[in-house]
Amino acid sequence: MSRRVEKTVAARSVRSVRQRFTVPFEYPVVFGRGFFDPACPVLADAVARGASEVRRVQVFIDSGVAAACPGIEARLKAYARRWSARMTLAGPCVQVPGGEAAKTSSSCVTDAMRRMADAHLCRHSVVLAIGGGSALDVVGLAASLVHRGVRLVRMPTTVLAQADSGVGVKNGVDAYGMKNFAGTFAPPFAVLVDFDFLPTVPWSYWIGGVSEAFKVAMIRDRAMFDRLCAVAPRLRERDERAMVAVVEQTARLHLEHIRTGGDPFEFGSSRPLDFGHWSAHRLEIVSGYAIGHGQAVAVGIALDTCYACRKRLITAAERDAALRAMSACGLPVWSDELARRDREGRLVVLKGLEDFREHLGGRLTVTLPAPIGRGLEVHAMDARLVEACVGELERRHARGPGA
Ligand SMILES: NC(=O)c1ccc[n+]([C@@H]2O[C@H](COP(=O)([O-])OP(=O)(O)OC[C@H]3O[C@@H](n4cnc5c(N)ncnc54)[C@H](O)[C@@H]3O)[C@@H](O)[C@H]2O)c1
Ligand SMILES: [Zn+2]
Repeated sequence: MSRRVEKTVAARSVRSVRQRFTVPFEYPVVFGRGFFDPACPVLADAVARGASEVRRVQVFIDSGVAAACPGIEARLKAYARRWSARMTLAGPCVQVPGGEAAKTSSSCVTDAMRRMADAHLCRHSVVLAIGGGSALDVVGLAASLVHRGVRLVRMPTTVLAQADSGVGVKNGVDAYGMKNFAGTFAPPFAVLVDFDFLPTVPWSYWIGGVSEAFKVAMIRDRAMFDRLCAVAPRLRERDERAMVAVVEQTARLHLEHIRTGGDPFEFGSSRPLDFGHWSAHRLEIVSGYAIGHGQAVAVGIALDTCYACRKRLITAAERDAALRAMSACGLPVWSDELARRDREGRLVVLKGLEDFREHLGGRLTVTLPAPIGRGLEVHAMDARLVEACVGELERRHARGPGA
């Protein structure tokens, strides 16, 4: 067949319809305290938004939160009784394991889905998830799958979850040796950030979440970076007022990025806010998740800060200010895992670059500060320069804190 005939046949047998529609997403994010106080309508408003019927609510609580707040289920029941015209509990609160181990277990999502089936949730029901980033990721993924998606109201309870993961549009679990390998983009129905959860947050999660504040400040907001440097010692002393301000500001920057960044579901190749994350995820994995996400991000930021300095994107004074402020908070700027090498003598952390590219797809895109307060996307990381930065951080670590 000649080319021309082929073309005519193809043109006759192909028909297409251009499907195009938009679905607006909108969810309230409320910051405050005392959301379980029966006099406070915030939770009832969030759950019953737009409903003409009484909403059935199934509550999932991170087991660490349940242990730290013993009366929480009784308070929820009393709250639901007060607001019975708008909401009713579908059954007893379900406890889910907290911490990264919950995300690595192969049955975590199916266990949560089973409890949603037992509660006979329908597509108009609400899942209320209360917990740290890991518990929210697991319950959020299950909620996004059941009936192809039931409404999810999140109450994040750690610094990281309140400032970052809990207010966003993603969830995910670890699988096949990869962090967040399985997950969905599923905007929540509402997010309630109740600062009354902060006092019981374990120390490593209290300070770990501050790394996400450094992350956004260093690539988005110079004034916030300066404030973080100033309040670092207060954060280390568990000054709650200082922390509340940091958490809310960080959350607002994340929300603004999702709202205005133009790619909320990350179809492109970059994740502009994930400064320091390419190595952080690798450190978490090679340590068998002994290093928490927050601490791993702090080390990842330290590494990319040194790299940005060697690339002359930030000054040595800016690099030192960042490393000093993170240390002053109690965040690590070194991990022995950074110096680990494979059989060929290559730093194992470097594999994080390929993982990062694969997870996002397309071209490698890493965001670096240039200068502090502004992000610059680069598409290659020089392995020899990364080696030099690891050596520099190791020497600083050997010289002691503040070096
Ligand atoms: N989905 C996203 O967009 C996104 C974004 C950033 C991070 N994350 C994920 O979030 C996870 C980290 O979350 P995290 O830092 O919140 O830690 P976490 O959820 O892994 O662990 C928190 C620990 O503290 C306990 N806990 C939680 N709140 C408490 C409270 N108020 N009082 C006492 N104990 C409490 C939990 O039981 C758990 O043991 C990582 O897996 C990370 O990948 C997800
Ligand atoms: Zn993070």
